[in-house]
Amino acid sequence: MRLLERLAEEHTLEFEGYQELLESRTPELAARAAELALGFRHEIYGHDVFVRGLIEFSSFCKNDCLYCGIRCSNARSDRYRLTPEQIMECADDGYLFGYRTFVLQSGEDPHYTDGMLCDIISAIKGRHPDCAITLSIGERSRESYQRLFDAGADRYLLRHETASPEHYAKLHPASMSFENRMRCISDLREIGYTVGIGYMVDTPFQGAYELACDLKFVEEFRPGMCGIGPFVSHHATPFASEPNGSVELTCFLLSLMRIIQPNLLIPATTSLGTLDPMGREKGILAGANVVMPNLSPREVRSRYDLYDNKICTGEEAAECRFCLDARMESIGYRTVVDRGDPKPMPS
Ligand code: 5AD
Ligand code: FES
Repeated sequence: MRLLERLAEEHTLEFEGYQELLESRTPELAARAAELALGFRHEIYGHDVFVRGLIEFSSFCKNDCLYCGIRCSNARSDRYRLTPEQIMECADDGYLFGYRTFVLQSGEDPHYTDGMLCDIISAIKGRHPDCAITLSIGERSRESYQRLFDAGADRYLLRHETASPEHYAKLHPASMSFENRMRCISDLREIGYTVGIGYMVDTPFQGAYELACDLKFVEEFRPGMCGIGPFVSHHATPFASEPNGSVELTCFLLSLMRIIQPNLLIPATTSLGTLDPMGREKGILAGANVVMPNLSPREVRSRYDLYDNKICTGEEAAECRFCLDARMESIGYRTVVDRGDPKPMPS
């Protein structure tokens, strides 16, 4: 408790402090962390929950991350690409449902050139100038990030996946590097994007040491957003028989991140909802303040197959919107029609 109370006062701990906090987790400690986290959350964001419309526009990926179901060596994956017109339709629908942020997400798919992506971004911005556009399309060159930013993209999500270089090497093929990941993240910030990072909880080879690296990285980098969810195994990956992550540990980490950086935008993720029917509600009650309902056309949803048993693959976009509104209301929160930019820290 001593370390937790200090964290809430100072918003920083030494590396060993984070590690000890993680190793000493009990239900009582987690409950206190959630209480402190909600105090900060309510002070800055009240009971508002920001919504982002997620458009998963391509499941092609040139990478081969060991944990991911759409890795390039999964030959059985039934892949799809949306046309620019289909993407625009998703955004138009989303606008009507009250979304003011669109997250364009895909595998790393070279089919979409900078030119195509810039056209899509400027078309959405042209029709919906009051909306923010978030990209989540992986590692690219600095020049590419700059062009997409100049075309109107506001934010970029690129999960670092783990802040330990040794751990990174165990989750990724030799063709991918921790250094390039970090280069991308720093380029994005320098260009002017609001940057989102993130990691999975309970991936193979991860323990308190690795998670303490993640918490220290969040503390030092001060991202706009940080998305975390439990690892969920996928049957066609090398990690097929690895156990799924812990919902409780994920929620504890959500609370700690809220305490470290009270104004952080933190989603209650789909993977949390996949492992526990009340996972997203638990995430909000641990300190998260964002949900990302799916806006992709229903026909393609099950094919964006990052992990097994992903939820919301049979629903229409409108159904997810209403479902999440009702879920948030049931725990005393409300979704809002807003771009949902990070708010300043209280003085
Ligand atoms: N379990 C949980 N999350 C996963 N992701 C990819 N594969 C899995 C999995 N098996 C996450 C990664 C990626 C994001 C889009 O989805 O963190 O950055
Ligand atoms: Fe998709 Fe509940 S959010 S069905």
